[in-house]
Amino acid sequence: VILKENLKIVSQEQIAPRIFEMKMTGKMVSDMNVPGQFLNMKVPDASKVLRRPISIAEIDKENNTCSIIYRVEGGGTAILSTLQAGDEVDVMGPQGNGFDISMVKAGDHVLVIGGGIGVPPLYQLGKELKELGAEITFLFGYANWDVIIYEKLFQGLGQVFISTDDGSYGVHGHVGHLLDALDFEPTAVFSCGAPGMLKAVNERFKEHPHAYISLESRMACGMGACYACVVPKIENPETSNLRVCEDGPVFKTGSVVL
Ligand code: FAD
Ligand code: FES
Repeated sequence: VILKENLKIVSQEQIAPRIFEMKMTGKMVSDMNVPGQFLNMKVPDASKVLRRPISIAEIDKENNTCSIIYRVEGGGTAILSTLQAGDEVDVMGPQGNGFDISMVKAGDHVLVIGGGIGVPPLYQLGKELKELGAEITFLFGYANWDVIIYEKLFQGLGQVFISTDDGSYGVHGHVGHLLDALDFEPTAVFSCGAPGMLKAVNERFKEHPHAYISLESRMACGMGACYACVVPKIENPETSNLRVCEDGPVFKTGSVVL
């Protein structure tokens, strides 16, 4: 079920240059049961007709809140970043198919790979994997040190390795370098980030039975009706597509053409 509700903003805070964390409360939180889903946010401005899809970064059932972490890219996210505690924001969600963690058991060693502003949904995922008793290795690639988010919080969930493009923190280079140094066989792989990174993960874990990538695409309706967001299916790519908003955003590796 996709719900539409005015969520109340509990807090909004800038946590890095151009990066904001917004915490919201509303009935919809009780329907957020899968990590990796997204919210389709209405920008409170008449000129912004299309909603902006943003991943759910954390779900807190006890306090009935959820949060998103987003980077100001253009006019829509810039307006969202001006909202304050007490304001309401029109949200549709929770949308899409998130990460399937049903096969993860206590003691499994799982791999979570993220890049840049693809990292947020991996926080809720990490929390749930830890609750299941999994050992987690996180590999994160960022542009530079000052856009690293939630490092301490991720360290509370598992082992964290970071690379930066400019070498200002961790290993110098992209996250592929961390992946090359991997010294264990993960029982499951979960990934979200830039297209190049997802391509590398998709290639490396093509045959893995439990490896997943979360994709981004430009969306219009955001609810499966318009086919604006499609990616070609690996079988019959010319004639068959999958919708990122409805069939994804999480797909099994080896299932779509990247
Ligand atoms: P503009 O460039 O002015 O946007 C113009 C139009 O293009 C809008 O309709 C906008 O929605 C669309 N658009 C622009 N960039 C993107 C993009 N990268 N992906 C999809 N549509 C785009 N960003 C985060 O910072 N944090 C997240 O957790 C996050 N999760 C996402 C999850 C999904 C499933 C998808 C598809 C995208 C996610 N994004 C996330 C990207 C986010 O949707 C865009 O950055 C945002 O829509 C930009 O809006 P804008 O008005 O500021 O930019
Ligand atoms: Fe309309 Fe995905 S955005 S089908």
